Amino acid sequence: MRRSVCTRDDVNRIVLGDNMDVLPTVEDGAAALIYIDPPFNTGKEQRRERLRTVRDDDHGDRTGFQGKRYRTVRLGAQSFDDIFDDFLAFLEPRIAEAHRILSPTGSFFLHIDYREAHYCKVLLDGLFGRECFMNEIIWAYDYGGRPKNRWPAKHDTLLWYVKDPARYTFHYDEIDRVPYMAPGLAGAEKAARGKTPTDVWWQTIVPTVGRERTGYPTQKPLAILNRIVRVHSNPGDLVLDFFAGSGTTGEAAARNDRRYLLIDSNPEAVRVMAERLAFNAPEVVSSSIDLSKLGGLQDKIPPDAPPFDIRKFWDEGYDPTAYTEGTSEK
Ligand SMILES: C[S@@+](CC[C@H](N)C(=O)[O-])C[C@H]1O[C@@H](n2cnc3c(N)ncnc32)[C@H](O)[C@@H]1O
Repeated sequence: MRRSVCTRDDVNRIVLGDNMDVLPTVEDGAAALIYIDPPFNTGKEQRRERLRTVRDDDHGDRTGFQGKRYRTVRLGAQSFDDIFDDFLAFLEPRIAEAHRILSPTGSFFLHIDYREAHYCKVLLDGLFGRECFMNEIIWAYDYGGRPKNRWPAKHDTLLWYVKDPARYTFHYDEIDRVPYMAPGLAGAEKAARGKTPTDVWWQTIVPTVGRERTGYPTQKPLAILNRIVRVHSNPGDLVLDFFAGSGTTGEAAARNDRRYLLIDSNPEAVRVMAERLAFNAPEVVSSSIDLSKLGGLQDKIPPDAPPFDIRKFWDEGYDPTAYTEGTSEK
């Protein structure tokens, strides 16, 4: 019999491990909302240099506000591979698990880009059923270089599927409002209230400076995840992201009183998530990866964090079977 590491009643949890090892241990129907943003199969290593600027009037290499000089300090790089021989063969068993884990009224979102979106839609039609496809949402942004030999690709695609097209969570009243394109034609009252967005969501990328930026490559905007979480789940529900990266889904869940299960195979992602979500005191656990790679993480965990967190492994010695056996040992 399969024992679950995560049930409907579990608290907030971050798991370090390959999602294919962890997903089979999650209880059937446990998650009301699943959002995934897998590597897009760009054929490249996704890498972001972490930089900090410090005031330096003598040796500064940048000029900032009011002409003050700043020096750039390199903090290191964060990276993960985005290269698959067969992307669909990689995704298929993971999405099949997602379908099993999704609650009867649940929604599944796949965030992907133009290179793979059409193949993924055919895959999802097969796994969920064509009748369970709800929307192809285009996230449109306007940032970065503009090639001169074709139209600049400035959008990602979010494919929304439900478990049951006759019964699914969709809170229309929770949809945030956006400005009218021609407010003069809408009338003053409507213009002041704004309108609900269509299936094209204009949203800037995460700014390169600012509080939201974690430095993790491919971090997605919190505004996108806030919208999805508010409209497609209820307070108290479990939200699952098994390509969790910097934990944007977890932050949206936590800020909107939902619970989260976040999985990533990259120790750096787990470190970033633990730090980002420390205000929420998540459990941070490992499925089977060598925890010695997580140097320094123990300092990020708040002292009042729940008992079964990663410090337990450091304090008492790491037992890699603890999670593959599938107990949460509260
Ligand atoms: C595009 S990023 C996700 C970014 C995230 N949405 C955010 O806002 O920060 C994809 C993530 O999938 C993770 N990943 C790739 N293969 C994985 C696997 N087999 N199991 C778990 N995580 C995986 C990578 O480490 C990476 O952090």
